[in-house]
Amino acid sequence: MGLIANRETNMTDTWEYLKSTILVAWSRTTRKIRALGAFVIIAITCLIFLRPSIPMRASLPSVPSVHFTPPPSGPISPYNVSKVALLIENRPNPILAPLMLHFMSVVPPDWRFRFMGSPESVKAVNASRAVRDAVAIGKLDLTYIPSNMTTGSQEEISRFLTTLWLYEVVLQPAEWLLVFQTDSMICANSRQTLNSWLDYDWVGAPWNPKGRFGGNGGLSLRRVSKIVDVLKHQQRIPDSEPEDVWLTDRLGHRPGAKLANGTASLTFSGEMHGGDGEKVVPPKKSGHAPHKEGAVAGDLIEGIDDWREGGYEPMGYHTGGSGETLHGGIWGTPRLRAHIWNYCPEVKMMLRMDAAQYVPGECSNNWKRMEPGWEGMFDDVKSRETEIIDGVEYPMLPAGLMPW
Ligand SMILES: *[C@@H]1O[C@H](CO)[C@@H](O)[C@H](O)[C@H]1NC(C)=O
Ligand SMILES: *[C@@H]1O[C@H](CO)[C@@H](O)[C@H](O)[C@H]1NC(C)=O
Ligand SMILES: *[C@@H]1O[C@H](CO)[C@@H](O)[C@H](O)[C@H]1NC(C)=O
Ligand SMILES: *[C@@H]1O[C@H](CO)[C@@H](O)[C@H](O)[C@H]1NC(C)=O
Repeated sequence: MGLIANRETNMTDTWEYLKSTILVAWSRTTRKIRALGAFVIIAITCLIFLRPSIPMRASLPSVPSVHFTPPPSGPISPYNVSKVALLIENRPNPILAPLMLHFMSVVPPDWRFRFMGSPESVKAVNASRAVRDAVAIGKLDLTYIPSNMTTGSQEEISRFLTTLWLYEVVLQPAEWLLVFQTDSMICANSRQTLNSWLDYDWVGAPWNPKGRFGGNGGLSLRRVSKIVDVLKHQQRIPDSEPEDVWLTDRLGHRPGAKLANGTASLTFSGEMHGGDGEKVVPPKKSGHAPHKEGAVAGDLIEGIDDWREGGYEPMGYHTGGSGETLHGGIWGTPRLRAHIWNYCPEVKMMLRMDAAQYVPGECSNNWKRMEPGWEGMFDDVKSRETEIIDGVEYPMLPAGLMPW
């Protein structure tokens, strides 16, 4: 009880104190301050009552302001949109995904890739998980051959690759175009880079090693703006020259043309004619670690790279007819072949070297490894399907080939 009474007294005291303080303060104020006080009270009242009708900040018209914006979404693209490697193929060949992935690893990393196919071949390539990963990171585009075009024959491909619309619109903004096909390969062991060929309007395996220009289009680097220039003024007559012959002839006769000559082209790609051999550098005499000091990166070092001495090592190869037309200048002798098997073993991917040839009959059986001399072993089969060059066993070229 006492506690409550006590509190009531306190409350009364506080009120009396407050009232007197306000009165004292009021008596001390001037008219001006009273007017200001009234204004403040009115303003606060207005604000409280009108607040819902004042638009929110976000809906006010935005005022331009300067502030820091981070670079557009994520890291800068590692790819150069001017460089595009293109594979056109309407047949769902099982080589497509491995070939595409191999090219993506040997062509410099700033290149983007594009596959152009039929619904069937696109589906076949897209079945590869590694291919889908490349699509996801923006390295590769899977696209379809335009519906008003076909690529079923050499002539149709020639028409396709001489269409202005393809270079000017479809491939835009590519300026450097690497065309590769299922009968071409770039070698992982090559010491060259595709980027050192960008100066040329066209380079491909040369038809004439002494010629001024001209090379096979199946593995070729092309300058898009120069081709657009040609196609704006000239049209290929259907069923005439193949597209690469037709285009290089016209590109080569433009003023200021810059096409790789025969000698240079031999270094780019090999198809019909061999070129100069590799040179192995002797290690420097002075110094304790000759391999580190003696050579520029990529030099061939005596004692390590001896097998490469004198061998013709173009950056890549092209063959005719999906690996069926092999020319004598490149493939004609056991020594030439031995060098290719060592330098560019991935060419086997584009040749018709079917493992079934190594497997003796009754293919549906389960197989176990046998040692020579065991009963029932077909020990002659293996020797028939390989060739011995300098005491080393190499695969035999596919059957039915003739030196050219
Ligand atoms: C793309 O590559 C070309 C040729 O090397 C070069 O001139 C150009 O600057 C590159 N573009 C970008 C965006 O890096
Ligand atoms: C490739 O496959 C993925 C996953 O199945 C699919 O989302 C994508 O659309 C396919 N791309 C093409 C071009 O068919
Ligand atoms: C295919 O269609 C495109 C776009 O409509 C056109 O520009 C191009 O000339 C056509 N190509 C042919 C060979 O008709
Ligand atoms: C071919 O081109 C290369 C490189 O541009 C040059 O060094 C060489 O002299 C040329 N050869 C001929 C026969 O013109």
